Amino acid sequence: MVAIRPTAQEGVFTDGSWLYTRNPIPGRAVYGEELRTEAGVEYRRWDANRSKLAAYLKRGGRTWPFRETSRILYLGAASGTTASHLSDVCVRGSIVAVEISPRSFRDLVAVAEARTNLFPVLGDARRPTKYRAHAAGVDVLYQDVAQRDQETIFLQNMELVRTGGVGFLMHKARSVDVSAEPRTLHEKARAALSSAGLDVLDVRALDPFAADHAAIVARKR
Ligand SMILES: C[S@@+](CC[C@H](N)C(=O)[O-])C[C@H]1O[C@@H](n2cnc3c(N)ncnc32)[C@H](O)[C@@H]1O
Repeated sequence: MVAIRPTAQEGVFTDGSWLYTRNPIPGRAVYGEELRTEAGVEYRRWDANRSKLAAYLKRGGRTWPFRETSRILYLGAASGTTASHLSDVCVRGSIVAVEISPRSFRDLVAVAEARTNLFPVLGDARRPTKYRAHAAGVDVLYQDVAQRDQETIFLQNMELVRTGGVGFLMHKARSVDVSAEPRTLHEKARAALSSAGLDVLDVRALDPFAADHAAIVARKR
């Protein structure tokens, strides 16, 4: 078996083919992922088919603002798959995880029970005033809501990010228009973010891991 070693991205490890994060709750998996122990450290396999942030890395994305102490606002956390890996990476920071579906939220709460840095919020990402008290001045916004108005939601929530902070918009083309070419829609989204005064750092298609999706990464001036 090939040894697990750190990557250049803080908190992310690899054995050459799979990505991993350190498991702060040994013995416990979140979504059935493989657990692997080496030199007394347990790692959770990070599946790029289940998490668009892992897909971003697998597709060569290298903008990585996540630090051990980072404060993250996560929109569309669902049952906590990606949020749990960010909780591993930002182990001394915090992840405010907003989810609108009560059913997914219940699963998210169960994941958060064992994690002291993951704070679930049952809420609508279109109404940031409801959670701004917990998220003002965050270092990173991560958004994966698959909604038609995803750009508007993103720009609204970038207001909560500190100057110099970074936003990840996991842009789903099919939520905007099922018949248009995804690349054209990703480019339109990039242009909208630039016009709003953000520095777009990366636009990266996530297929084959997440079809018709791109990660659009932007910095707040
Ligand atoms: C593709 S799933 C997210 C998967 C998750 N990010 C992960 O990687 O583990 C999209 C989620 O966004 C949620 N969502 C959709 N619209 C939302 C809104 N306006 N506010 C908050 N969450 C929303 C959905 O309920 C769904 O759980």
